[in-house]
Amino acid sequence: MKGNMKKLKIVIIGAGRAGMIHARNFASYVPGVELMGLVDPNMDACQTSAGELGVSAAESPDEFYDQGADAVVIASPTRFHRDIAVKAMKSGLHVLCEKPMAMTVAECRDMAETASSTGKVFQVGFMRRFDAGFQEVARRLQAGEIGDPISIRSLTYGPSIPQPWMYDISASNGPLAEVNSHDIDTLFWYAGKEVEEVFAVAGNYRCPDAREKYPDFYDNVTMTVRFCDGTQGIVQGAQGVRYGYDSRCEVLGVNGLLTVGGLAADTVRGYTPEGFSGNTVGSWRNLFTEAYLAEDIDFIDCIRNNRAPQAGAQAGLQALEVVLAGNRSIRERRPVSLSEIREEV
Ligand SMILES: NC(=O)c1ccc[n+]([C@@H]2O[C@H](COP(=O)([O-])OP(=O)(O)OC[C@H]3O[C@@H](n4cnc5c(N)ncnc54)[C@H](O)[C@@H]3O)[C@@H](O)[C@H]2O)c1
Repeated sequence: MKGNMKKLKIVIIGAGRAGMIHARNFASYVPGVELMGLVDPNMDACQTSAGELGVSAAESPDEFYDQGADAVVIASPTRFHRDIAVKAMKSGLHVLCEKPMAMTVAECRDMAETASSTGKVFQVGFMRRFDAGFQEVARRLQAGEIGDPISIRSLTYGPSIPQPWMYDISASNGPLAEVNSHDIDTLFWYAGKEVEEVFAVAGNYRCPDAREKYPDFYDNVTMTVRFCDGTQGIVQGAQGVRYGYDSRCEVLGVNGLLTVGGLAADTVRGYTPEGFSGNTVGSWRNLFTEAYLAEDIDFIDCIRNNRAPQAGAQAGLQALEVVLAGNRSIRERRPVSLSEIREEV
């Protein structure tokens, strides 16, 4: 940043798990910014977190808007994303919105139209696009190392059981949205094509307490994806796997295979009479620490240089369309075309 350049004032809306990753980045590691404060209806927790960072806490973002905030990071529960993002952009702020972009196609379109009519930067939090390994696969694919991709498989298995609010699929869009949005975005990124149709199977294998009240809830899903040119995709998601956080992707091309991700957190192995052991990754927070920071730095660069983000409104919208098609496929036990989802709005 040039010495005389004005610092951009950033506000974090939703000071939970994801919000605090961004808050710490903007407070300490992103150049050229000032973290103004945190917004969260849970004021006790918000004040504690804001106090640790030496910034203000508020229940509503309005006071920060009045004080000249330049940009917000939205990390509230997904159902609030649209209203917060639209208001922020109409108030003249740039937006980095956590994934999934919103709950419905209509909400995503509303956000996309607001971004376009206001000219504000609107970025969706697909931070795997900033992970060095995922980026290298993209570069090598682009360079033609394995020829055209034939099939792309991306999976995310998480250790923790879902939060109870996720049990109601109609209110949360379920694991395809909360867990697999990243995998779906990676498929789009690597294939560079539109999705035509999906077929998904899912079930609840690890959350017996949800079975009676929420028979539609699933904690394990496998979805096949057909792109418009016949490229194949597979997305797999699981929650409550307990052994660690597991994110892997492989691209099979006409001339070879590229893979990224793995189970091991490091290269240390123990060999004893009981067998051998190693460390697994505990959380997405550890696995993607650098990617979240690179994402935040790039958001600021987009604002400063008035350029389009790597994952903007279109990336958020197309991922959500696939989520909704996948959930319908699970419910109705049939392949679902993306045109069905688009035409309904
Ligand atoms: N990019 C990623 O890898 C990643 C990881 C985790 C979560 N997320 C996304 O981030 C969002 C938040 O998830 P989380 O896991 O941090 O949830 P969380 O429950 O840990 O935090 C959400 C916070 O938002 C607050 N909140 C509730 N209503 C609000 C409102 N109207 N305005 C502002 N704040 C409000 C809650 O009090 C809570 O502190 C979700 O959209 C989730 O999908 C993304």
